Amino acid sequence: MIVAGWSCGGPEAAAGIIRAMTTPTLTQDQLKALVADAALAHVPSGQVLGVGTGSTVDLFIDALAARIAAGALQLPGAVSSSERSTQRLRRHGIAVVEAGAVERLGVYVDGADEIDGRGHMIKGGGAALTREKIVADLADRFVCIADGSKLVPVLGRYPLPVEVVAMALPQLVRRFAAIGGRAVPRAGVLTDNGHPILDVHGLAITDPLAMETELNQWPGIVTVGLFARHRAQVCLLGTLQGVQTLVF
Ligand code: 5RP
Repeated sequence: MIVAGWSCGGPEAAAGIIRAMTTPTLTQDQLKALVADAALAHVPSGQVLGVGTGSTVDLFIDALAARIAAGALQLPGAVSSSERSTQRLRRHGIAVVEAGAVERLGVYVDGADEIDGRGHMIKGGGAALTREKIVADLADRFVCIADGSKLVPVLGRYPLPVEVVAMALPQLVRRFAAIGGRAVPRAGVLTDNGHPILDVHGLAITDPLAMETELNQWPGIVTVGLFARHRAQVCLLGTLQGVQTLVF
């Protein structure tokens, strides 16, 4: 990991940093707003963009729309990773392009539940992990936007989301128990693809790529919320000192 620098990402973000210096209680949402704004610098003008899902991405979509409205960015459209983001993009008048209509994307911007010092992530807290991985797979560059609490030395404190086929749920709970994981069905949640989610507690994920590769072999798993193959190339991290740019 290279710490490429610190920035304040525009006037609103600068105001946030000034607040950070004077206010000991800068909220997680304010840190998310800082990185959402900073991510605009990574959006190539004139290209279709990949857009993730979550509260940080919601703020990013709002910032994107404001930049387009100001005439400072030309965006032909976005490939969305969820119904939630699709609705928000459309509300702002941003065209949503089907994933199947593009061969490659230059950039994909998304949040994370955890990220380690090599750009590996846990994702899926918003239940959009499968479509997120599909869109990330189309992209040359994954730009992760996250508040500083998401940076961890080892993945796994945040329960690992796994999208599964319903009939395999009990046997997958047992299989996770056999490797020391406590898999809990996420109550009342089905993904945009109509599948349940297991949140797996208690895994210390010291080798994310090996674990992702192994779990991808388990029958009944649709998508594991480990993004090691599709890790971030850049992470914009919101901290009390401003936006820290990590390059992996
Ligand atoms: C959704 C995700 C999100 O990127 C992740 O949950 C982070 O969300 P937030 O920006 O709300 O903290 O993976 O499936």
